[in-house]
Amino acid sequence: MDDDILNTIFDSAIKNKNIIKNRRVLTIDYVPDKLLFRTKESTAIAQSLSVILKNGRPSNLLIFGKPGTGKTAVVKNVIEHLHNKTNQLDINLRFPFINAKNSNTPYKILYEIAEFLGINKEEKKMQVFFTGLSMSEATDRILDFIKRKSIKIVLVIDEIDSIVNRKGDDILYNFTRANERISSDQFISLIGISNSLTFKDKLDPRVKSSLSEEELVFNPYTVEQLKQILIDRCKLAFYENAIPMGVINLCAAIAGRETGDARKAIDLLRVAAEIAERSMTKKITEDHIRSAQQKIDSDTNFEILTNSTLHTKIVILSIIKSKNGSTGEIYGIYQYFCSRLEQEPLTQRRMTQIVGELDQLGLITTNIINQGRYGRTQRIKLHIHISSVKEVVKNDPLLSSFIKDISN
Ligand SMILES: Nc1ncnc2c1ncn2[C@@H]1O[C@H](COP(=O)(O)OP(=O)(O)OP(=O)(O)O)[C@@H](O)[C@H]1O
Ligand SMILES: [Mg+2]
Repeated sequence: MDDDILNTIFDSAIKNKNIIKNRRVLTIDYVPDKLLFRTKESTAIAQSLSVILKNGRPSNLLIFGKPGTGKTAVVKNVIEHLHNKTNQLDINLRFPFINAKNSNTPYKILYEIAEFLGINKEEKKMQVFFTGLSMSEATDRILDFIKRKSIKIVLVIDEIDSIVNRKGDDILYNFTRANERISSDQFISLIGISNSLTFKDKLDPRVKSSLSEEELVFNPYTVEQLKQILIDRCKLAFYENAIPMGVINLCAAIAGRETGDARKAIDLLRVAAEIAERSMTKKITEDHIRSAQQKIDSDTNFEILTNSTLHTKIVILSIIKSKNGSTGEIYGIYQYFCSRLEQEPLTQRRMTQIVGELDQLGLITTNIINQGRYGRTQRIKLHIHISSVKEVVKNDPLLSSFIKDISN
């Protein structure tokens, strides 16, 4: 690559300091001090936890709500405030905060709790190693430590549905029953956070009743609420005049229309600001927001497609190859592709279900066309950029030879 090109990129980064004042406040992990429109939810959690200050054990709490409704941020905020109080009062309260999606096995969750509590600084025979112990031995070592050190614990498990989906609710059962095994001035209370509203139905009934002693639902934000959240964040993130009000309104409208998701709204802002910076302008414009939306959507589609099953990917390829978009034609191409891959094809009914799932995810659109006396038929159209599909196909060892099929 030409040295001049690199120098131009770096020089323009040095020069263009007109837009972003504080990048950190636009990142995923940033928790603002002020959480708007969540007083009711914060109060409910604080009230439930406040019994700790009166020497009691708080009920286990399950929090539900769609993505980006502020669940993680609110819980972190309440915990931080409570932690300040318990420190002042010398109450030995600890808050392991585990994200079950990142800690992808039940054992890994136990290991992380042990690390958080400092158990692995103890003698070897008391430690919870990275691998090698049974689940029950690891749990016993954690409970022994809690007894010995006389600790009170509020264990937060964020994205808790991902453990249950992996049939790991034994670990939840053990923790909800742990209080029977430790004395009354120590406890483990659980706060589970989930963005799936149906998560509870998948739980073992024994776990369900003890885990959801209390429940709290977070509703999606309205467009007006998102607008206020964005105005607050923009004051911290951008230099004055770098973002006109109309642009904030558009951002709120897009995120509000789709999901009421504050993360989506802030992501749009961050990506748009980066695009604006790169194009050397002094302001973020509505066009930057629209380009940001396209980029985010195509990144999300790419992610979904990469993680889809082989047959879903073959269905997508068949849709691309199809001329008239009818289910019958697509199924024919799908069978042909399966035979080339020496894969047993799924039934047409199952393929139609996959088509329905892809439609729900927004990767394709389906329309019913009335053909007069020939009846009605479904027309399926791809909604993702072909370059994303090509990238996914190229990276999939089983499918990489199909790149020729979709290139012409
Ligand atoms: N009321 C609010 N005021 C200001 N910022 C907010 C508010 N609610 C959410 N946010 C911001 O929106 C983003 C997403 O919030 P958060 O991570 O808490 O959502 P969540 O409900 O936990 O979503 P998920 O279910 O996907 O984990 C964060 O950057 C957070 O700072
Ligand atoms: Mg969250």
